[in-house]
Order: sequence, then C-alpha cells, then structure tokens
Amino acid sequence: AAEVRSFTMRGFLLRMYDAVARAEQDVMLGLARRQMLTRLAGEALGGLGAALVYVALGVLLAVAAIPLAVAGTAVLAIRSGQTSLGNLMYATNQLYEEGLYFTDFLEFCEQAEGRVSGERGAPMPRSFERIVADKVSFTYPGADAPALREVSVEIKHGEIVAFVGENGSGKTTLAKILSGLYEPDTGTILWDDTDLRQVDPDLLRTRTAVIAQDHTRWPLTARYNITMGTGKGEPALHEAAAVAGADDVIARLPHGYRTLLDRRFKDGCELSGGQWQRIAVARGFHRDADLLICDEPTAALDARAEHALFERIRTHADGRTVLLITHRLASVRYADRIYVLDRGLVTEHGDHDTLMALNGLYADLYTLQASAYR
Ligand SMILES: Nc1ncnc2c1ncn2[C@@H]1O[C@H](COP(=O)(O)OP(=O)(O)OP(=O)(O)O)[C@@H](O)[C@H]1O
Ligand SMILES: [Mg+2]
Repeated sequence: AAEVRSFTMRGFLLRMYDAVARAEQDVMLGLARRQMLTRLAGEALGGLGAALVYVALGVLLAVAAIPLAVAGTAVLAIRSGQTSLGNLMYATNQLYEEGLYFTDFLEFCEQAEGRVSGERGAPMPRSFERIVADKVSFTYPGADAPALREVSVEIKHGEIVAFVGENGSGKTTLAKILSGLYEPDTGTILWDDTDLRQVDPDLLRTRTAVIAQDHTRWPLTARYNITMGTGKGEPALHEAAAVAGADDVIARLPHGYRTLLDRRFKDGCELSGGQWQRIAVARGFHRDADLLICDEPTAALDARAEHALFERIRTHADGRTVLLITHRLASVRYADRIYVLDRGLVTEHGDHDTLMALNGLYADLYTLQASAYR
C-alpha cells in the first residue's frame, strides 16, 4: 500500500478496476441476453407445438373420432413426455458442460504422465569429480524465446565457478537446471557419468543447497527457517548462522532461535530484507551439500556482511564446490572459472585475467563497476 501512495496510483488503479468491472459486466449482459433469446425461442416453439397438439385433440374429440377417455390419457401421456424431454435436455446440457472440464482433466493427466515418465532407478553418485552441462537448452512454458540456448558449462569438485551477465541473461535458469529444479528441453547434465535424467530428483536435491535469489520467508521460528526440519544438532545450526552473520540477527530477537519470524503470530517479529537474506544464507550453509549454489546471496547485505560472506566463499567454503551468481564483479575475481551469459548463450569463459584480456562483455562490465570506486 506504501507503493500505491508513493506513486499516487489510487486514481489509476480505480480506473483500471472500473474498466475491468465494466468489461465483465458487458460479457455477463451479453450472455444473459443470448440465454434469454434462446430460451424465448425454445419456449415459443414448445408452446406452439403443445397448442397444435391440444387443438388437434380437441378437433378429434369434437368430431367424435376418439372417445373422451383416450383423449384424457393422451393429455397425461403428453404431460409426462414433456417432463421427460425436459429432463433429457437438462442432462445433455450438464454432460456437455462437465465434458469441457473433463477434457482439461485428461490433458492435465497426459502432461503429468509425461513429466514422471522414465525409470529413475540410477543411484546418485556418492560424490562427483565434475558436473557437466552439455548443450543445454531450455524454454519456459508459454515463452516465445528460449531462456538458454545450447549452453555448456563445467564445474569441477572443490572449485568456485561464477556465472555473470546482465539481467535476464539466464543465470538463475541455468542454476535451477543444475540443481535439478528444472529439466532441460535438450542437452544433458552429467554428474561424472550419471545422467541426471536417470536419477530421482529428490536424491539430487539432497546433494545440492541453493541460496535462492527469491528465497522464501517461512512463517516459522528462526531455528526452523535455518534447519528446515533437519536435525543436525546445535553446533551445526550455530555454525551456519555464524557464517551468514545470522547469529547477530538472532541475538537481537526477543526469544532467540525460538522467535517466530512472522508478525501475524503472537510475539512474532518481522525482519528487514537484509536480515532475511542472512537467514537464507545460513539455511544454504546449514544444508552442508556437495554443491552450494549462491544466487545473488549478497544483494541485500550491508558492506560488512557482504565482505564476510565472500571471504568465506573465497576460502573455498570449507571444501565445498560453489556456484556463485552475482553482479558484484569484485568478488568474482577469485573464482576458478567465470562463465559470461548473454541472452541465453555462454559468450565468454575463463578466469578473471583471461576474460579481461579478451576485452569483451566481462571486461566492459568490470571496468564500468571498478570506475565507480576510483
Ligand atoms: N518463471 C519464469 N517464467 C517464464 N519466463 C521466465 C521465468 N523466469 C525467467 N524467465 C525468463 O527467462 C529469462 C532468463 O531469466 P533468468 O531469471 O534466468 O535471468 P538472470 O540472468 O538470473 O537475471 P537476473 O540478473 O535479473 O537475476 C528472462 O528473459 C526471463 O524473462
Ligand atoms: Mg537471477
């Protein structure tokens, strides 16, 4: 609501609402009108038919072609016939309407089947020497252009690999594919020799930790926001919190780790954007996975917290393999390999010095950012 006020959007929103309401009203009126006309025509035809039958019956009675008892029976038969016909029409109508939903349901089932198909019995490798994405393409459902086009990257065990590139270049999409959240349309992801298509995605997810760009703010206690229900014990919890600087945040909460992080609850607290990000980072480190994916982990962090986190990542994050996505190019310098993405393509890769010598997009962006600090 603050944004509505600061952009003085009240009038605009009300006008939009008005327009939508009017359009809906027009559609409903049109529908009612059509319904009424159809019903009118139907009833008129029905009435006409009934009148003709009754007149015919009357005439037959008048000329004494049939006895009164037969005419009476005919009237009863016509009455019950009419009711049955009405019921039939109603049932047919209902069938048609439900049928429309049924087609949707069948389509849904078909799609769902396509997604779970295939035996996924292969065991997840215990560890990995290298993760390779080979010519991976991906298009979001309903999107016109692919988000990734034949992208190939490689992450070796113990390395820090960085993805950089401008907004919308496909960094987050590639990270989600590497962590098994999305399946590529074409191309393969290999952990050593295991094709991830053959592995149960849940198994893969236990091996990767993702600090997501759009992390969720769970309405749970601070402890559960970090542990996510995994019982690794107190030391692991405190260590993860310390790495992310979340321990400072939690120390200031009224009930420490037991504080509910949602103001809708009694004694709940709301955190600031950067405080939430520290919690999200702690969550990623607590998972203790082989591959740690950090997607913009510092966008909301203050200078000190950012420095501390990158320092931690730079010292190889305690032997973890790290995939780092960030726009802070100063902290990418130390990565073992940097992939530059541009509109869904990997356009450059190599370490910092190689890319600077290449004088391409990376060098441009780096120089631009560095010049601001001179
Ligand atoms: N959920 C989605 N549905 C449809 N299209 C999407 C979705 N998420 C991203 N896209 C599209 O895919 C492309 C790549 O997006 P992606 O999020 O991977 O970019 P990014 O490099 O992470 O950008 P940023 O630096 O802003 O985080 C964009 O053009 C975007 O419009
Ligand atoms: Mg992104």
